[in-house]
Order: sequence, then C-alpha cells, then structure tokens
Amino acid sequence: MSRQKLLEMTRSLIEHGAADTMELADDVVSVPVSDYTDEARYELEKEKIFKRLPLMVAPSCELPEPGCYKAMDIAGIPVLVTRQKDGTAQAFLNSCTHRGNPVAQGSGKATRFTCGYHGWTFKNDGDLLAIASPKDFGTVDKALFCLKKFPTLERAGLIWATLDPDSQLDIESYLCGYDSLLEHFGFDDWHLFDQRTISGPNWKTAYDGYLDFYHLPVLHKDTFGADFFNRANFFAWGPHQRLSAPSKFVQKTGSDEQLDLTGMDEKDWPIDALLQGVWTIFPHISIASFYGGGGRGALISQLFPGKTVSESFTTQFYVMEHEPTDDAVRKGADEQFAFLETVVAEEDYETGKRQHKALQSGLMDKVWFGRNEGGGQIFHQWVDRLIKADDAELAEIFASQNQDDQLEAAE
Ligand code: FES
Ligand SMILES: [Fe+2]
Repeated sequence: MSRQKLLEMTRSLIEHGAADTMELADDVVSVPVSDYTDEARYELEKEKIFKRLPLMVAPSCELPEPGCYKAMDIAGIPVLVTRQKDGTAQAFLNSCTHRGNPVAQGSGKATRFTCGYHGWTFKNDGDLLAIASPKDFGTVDKALFCLKKFPTLERAGLIWATLDPDSQLDIESYLCGYDSLLEHFGFDDWHLFDQRTISGPNWKTAYDGYLDFYHLPVLHKDTFGADFFNRANFFAWGPHQRLSAPSKFVQKTGSDEQLDLTGMDEKDWPIDALLQGVWTIFPHISIASFYGGGGRGALISQLFPGKTVSESFTTQFYVMEHEPTDDAVRKGADEQFAFLETVVAEEDYETGKRQHKALQSGLMDKVWFGRNEGGGQIFHQWVDRLIKADDAELAEIFASQNQDDQLEAAE
C-alpha cells in the first residue's frame, strides 16, 4: 500500500519533470514578521508545539541495545530516553522523584541511574530501585516514586515522545500514516555513523530552509552548484511533508550516473529512487538521503528552539545503511558529513541568522511565500492552527485528519 503511494508520487514527479512544470500553491501568501520575532509568540510555540506534540527524540540506532540511554534538554524540559531490557524505548522526565535533580547526563549504557544529589537509584525502566539510607529517610511506597514517563512510540526506526505525561494525543494518529512511508528507508537496522550539534537562528527561520528548494542554486551555488534544481513538489500527510524535485531522473545508487526512470519498468524502480528528496516531520525534523562515502546514508536533522527567540540548535545524525568496514569508506563518509554540516551551518544557518537580525529591526511587517513555496505556506498554517487549538481540539484535528486519509485511500 505505501509502496503504491511512493509510486504515485514518483509518477507525478516524472510527469511534471517531462512537462517542465511543478505543482503550484493557489496564491502568494504572507507571514507576519512578528511570527518570527515576537517573544510572547515564541513562548507560546514552545508551550503549544514543543511541549505538547510528539517529537522525534532519537533515531533508533542512537540507542541500538538494551541499556543505551541519552539525556537531552527540549524547550527547558530535561528528558531521558532509554532502551529497556525488553528492547522497547521509553522517554522519561529526567528529574529525580526525591527533589528533582536530573538522574542522568550525556549518553551511554547503564541499566540503572543513581542520582548524584542524595543517591536514590532508578532502573532504566524508571522504577525506583533503592533510596539512600532508607531507615533514616522514612517509609515511602517506592511504586509511587518512579520516574515520570512520557508517551513514547518507536516506528520506522525513529523514536517519538510527547513531553506531556497526560497527553491525550495518540502519537500514531499524529503521524497520519507518514510513518508507513518512512518505513521504506529501513532505518531500524541502520547504523549511526556520527552526530553533531550546530547553532542556528529562530527555529522557524531555520525550518523554512528545509522546506525550500527555491534557494538551492542561489544560496548553495558554491557547494551544490548554480545549475542545481530549484523546484519541488510537496506531498503532505497532515503537517508532515515530503518535497522532491519534479524530474524523470534519479541518481543511480553509488554513482554519479543519472537513471532515467521512464526507461524502466515500475517494478524495477529502486527504493532509493522512490524516496528521494527531503522528508520533514513536523515540527522539527528533516531527513535527506545521500550517497557518499561508499554507501547509502541519510542526514537526519533534529531542530529545537534555543534559549531565545533568535536561537535554535540542531543535532545532525548521519546514519548509514551499513557500518563502514574499511578506512576508505569511513573517510568518504566523514567527508560527506563534513560537507553537509558546512552547507547547513555556514550557508543556511548563517543566512538565517542575518535574515532574523534584519527582521528584528521591526521595519518589515511581512515576509512572502510564493506559489512555488507551498511547503513553507503549509508549515506556517499548521503552526498557526496548532497553537490556537486547545488540547481537546488537538486530538480531534488528528483524528479527523486520519479519517480524511482513509476516505482518500478508499476512493
Ligand atoms: S534529588 Fe535525587 S536523590 Fe535527592
Ligand atoms: Fe539550504
């Protein structure tokens, strides 16, 4: 079923490519500059988006085995993600139930966490194992002192968590079936080659760039080249969007050669040809696949709001289908990852920082998204819609979204 959907998208990309066209949005639309610069709005986005919607906290391969964990900070919430004994991933509030100190830092492998303040010990499934000097402390029911759990779901080799322990929003319904397409990457048995974190501008200024091919041959003329395509068709599943260039050509696996898909039987279209482009996961993930360094790889970018309205940070995970086994492949992968980091940090994010600073002058009231920039239009519409929705409406929005998809599938 989802392969059918991939084929459908590919046929549409080929048709548009052959006709030298792209799918255009209905209108040119504007977004108020204050949406990017207003501090109250930024706080609202952290509350209503980042603390309320499922977030992709880690690719599965970052926690490959039981006992693996990582601690992170998301919009001021300390989060601990572990892979438990039974192999399932679970996210917790990283805050000791005694007096709140985070129980874990950084990442590594541990089956238990001892809080560094008074020594209470928790298992990696969140259960309180032991309290220090229990006779002196007094009697407590340990079952009531487990680490607070966040709703967590692992799908398509990615781990989502909602940073609201009482969330009524089902993560699966939030994904709107998009996960079944992401499954085709096969990330669940890929390898995490490397990761790094870079600083960026306001989170939406940064995210706009992931939904935008229009800038590619201009901003990236020295890296991707001035002849690079600048058109994308957008495909949406709720707020999650894939963008891909309309063309009948795809790069052949592991080479620079271009494959003409129209000259091939559809059943022979390779899966990576069907997955090309950028896959974004609302509100903060972009996945782009690449060949380089001797194998199939993907850059998974995970974006979070920073300390102020003008800052964000992005963890880039460079995942590879196969762990490199020789130095030449490893060197190639290192070079590919360094190249991608440079493009994002020095071209996209440096531009975003200058752009954001100029907007903060307060002398422009709007920015514009053209008919060729439908992805950005849809993204900002969803941000607006979701920050206005109360919790009950939020669950309804995604329930009805899934109904629409089912109806469409049945037609
Ligand atoms: S705060 Fe953790 S043991 Fe006291
Ligand atoms: Fe870019």
